[in-house]
Amino acid sequence: MRAFEARPVHEVSGVIEVPGDKSISHRSLMLSGIATGTSEVTGFLPSEDCLASLAAMRALGVQIEQRSATHVLVRGVGLGGLRPAGRALDMGNAGTAMRLFTGLLAAQAFGSELVGDASLMKRPMERVAKPLREMGADVRTTGGTPPVLLAGGCALHGIEYRMPVASAQVKSAILLAGLYAEGPTTVVSPAVSRDHSERMLSSFGARVDVDGLRIRVEPPRELAAQRLEVPGDFSSAAFLIVAGLLGAGRPGLTIRNVGMNPSRVGLLEILRAMGARIDVENARHCGAEPVADLRVYASPLRGIEVPAALVPLTIDEFPVLFVAAAGAAGETTITGAGELRVKESDRIAAMSAGFRALGVVHEALPDGMRIAGKPDGPAFTGGEVDSCGDHRIAMAFAVASLRAAGTIHIRDVANVATSFPGFVGLARHVGFDLDER
Ligand code: S3P
Repeated sequence: MRAFEARPVHEVSGVIEVPGDKSISHRSLMLSGIATGTSEVTGFLPSEDCLASLAAMRALGVQIEQRSATHVLVRGVGLGGLRPAGRALDMGNAGTAMRLFTGLLAAQAFGSELVGDASLMKRPMERVAKPLREMGADVRTTGGTPPVLLAGGCALHGIEYRMPVASAQVKSAILLAGLYAEGPTTVVSPAVSRDHSERMLSSFGARVDVDGLRIRVEPPRELAAQRLEVPGDFSSAAFLIVAGLLGAGRPGLTIRNVGMNPSRVGLLEILRAMGARIDVENARHCGAEPVADLRVYASPLRGIEVPAALVPLTIDEFPVLFVAAAGAAGETTITGAGELRVKESDRIAAMSAGFRALGVVHEALPDGMRIAGKPDGPAFTGGEVDSCGDHRIAMAFAVASLRAAGTIHIRDVANVATSFPGFVGLARHVGFDLDER
């Protein structure tokens, strides 16, 4: 089993870029695959999760040429052009692929079966299956989890669906099915969640109306092939942002070309409320998505109560936010984040176990965590932690090495490749003393 050894360091610096956005890369393949004409995707994230989507699209009859790891040509087969895969589609560790393909394939004329790795096979699928059934699809889960069986051949009709959780994956699955439905499909979210699907569907020419938390899609006659440039993944940048706050040398740590979609950057608002200095430079647009360069300065942080409204906008960043909170003055409280329990791991339990091993005073809550920070001197002892096979837990504990008294051994880190290929090299480049064995 792969492991990280993260030895204490005090300073990081440099000018870097992080790999492409995972959410946008998945969507770029799916929409390009059912568009008419050839789409070109640059900045594509060649991570295991996105390569699972790529393999699935190929298995469904879409020709995809990878000119380089990050440059992909997708020959769209048109809305009705997907073909039966003839075998179960393996989504690996990718919840986004599993949920979005469920929506896309529920609407096809043929049946499909979706499976994944041990972690994905335990994740909830009824949240997607239920609205799709309301649309007329035949979707079966296995006690609420994968394998997901889609009978296909069902005529779908548009619905208005009020989502019980603010989930972009559920929203996107319904919108994808809505492309094939009779009449418009409306999704109403309880709170804002990432809106890459809405933006990209509009770019491909679908009519998507957004009215606050109500999103309505009309079935298009066709989607038109696009040129898409994928920005750097804010969720990957988050690890470097917190590293910079804990120990950037002069003149700060710069991360170029980071996706700045407002539905993704809740972490910036939280960290600024904690006292962080993060400058946004060179703000611009990359197609339908805002991007910028971020310059991060070492900043003394203080604990806060994280506002509930920011939770869905920060959902993937909590593991590394917990690490920042452990180095802040006073107490940080996160509540309303029960979704963390059904991610690639139970992230509250995984972080709590790691914090216990590294001497961080905290209390795990059913829907969050209370953390007593240590602003002066090391906030973490050395020790051994388990990532529970979760990429974001592994990288969060690597960042803890900036405030650790001794070496942090992190077990089970192979899944870092699901979202952040090249993490170790980039971390070492900015000054981490990190090895993978
Ligand atoms: C994602 C949505 C979020 C997020 C995941 C990616 C997406 O999941 O945690 O990493 O690409 O739509 P939920 O929809 O379950 O909140």
